Amino acid sequence: MAEATVGDVVTVRRGATDDIAAFRALGEAVVPPTYGPIDSAYAQRMLDEWWVPEVFETSLARNVHLVAEVDGEVVALANLGRLSRSYRDFPHVTDPHAGGDREVMWKLYVHPDHHGRGIGSRLLAGIEAMVEGDELWLEVVAGNDRAYDFYRARGFEEVERVGDGEWPDDVWMVKRLR
Ligand SMILES: CC(C)(COP(=O)(O)OP(=O)(O)OC[C@H]1O[C@@H](n2cnc3c(N)ncnc32)[C@H](O)[C@@H]1OP(=O)(O)O)[C@@H](O)C(=O)NCCC(=O)NCCS
Repeated sequence: MAEATVGDVVTVRRGATDDIAAFRALGEAVVPPTYGPIDSAYAQRMLDEWWVPEVFETSLARNVHLVAEVDGEVVALANLGRLSRSYRDFPHVTDPHAGGDREVMWKLYVHPDHHGRGIGSRLLAGIEAMVEGDELWLEVVAGNDRAYDFYRARGFEEVERVGDGEWPDDVWMVKRLR
């Protein structure tokens, strides 16, 4: 992938099924360097189970996706959906805001060639603008300190850490928007 230079135009648009191959390529570029140092088996599991066409098809039907493009190439992905509409089960999530159905940003991934250029912040702002309620939730894998610090610096607070002891814990964070 050609690296963007300062001044390259970044376009943000809704994602669609035509983007699935580009999503997979993005995952192959960003998942191993992000999660490999934490748990390489977990990084591979993520790619094998969650960054696959069938899961993206389901996700695109249930969640809103935003993509960022540089020169017509997908360089970043974010999405937003409801906890109750996830294909995953959350047996251990305890909701301190009982009764609410969390609006969750399930993904925010920027291609490593394009980190630090404001693309992640821009997609996050786009997701926040689509939240219907007062709060935006997300999960960060324990040990993904750069992402954790990125979210803390943008108003997210840690709520709880959940896990099964087999894989790295998930850290739930929330940002109160209004
Ligand atoms: C975390 C991430 C989404 C931030 O997006 P970005 O486009 O790089 O971030 P921006 O350019 O908008 O903002 C730069 C900020 O990101 C931080 N950052 C995190 N990882 C970074 C990296 N690899 N390179 C540069 N900056 C990084 C910087 O410290 C900076 O923080 P600050 O403004 O609070 O000082 C992106 O780096 C990424 O995709 N990381 C790997 C995947 C990941 O961990 N996703 C989150 C899953 S929950």
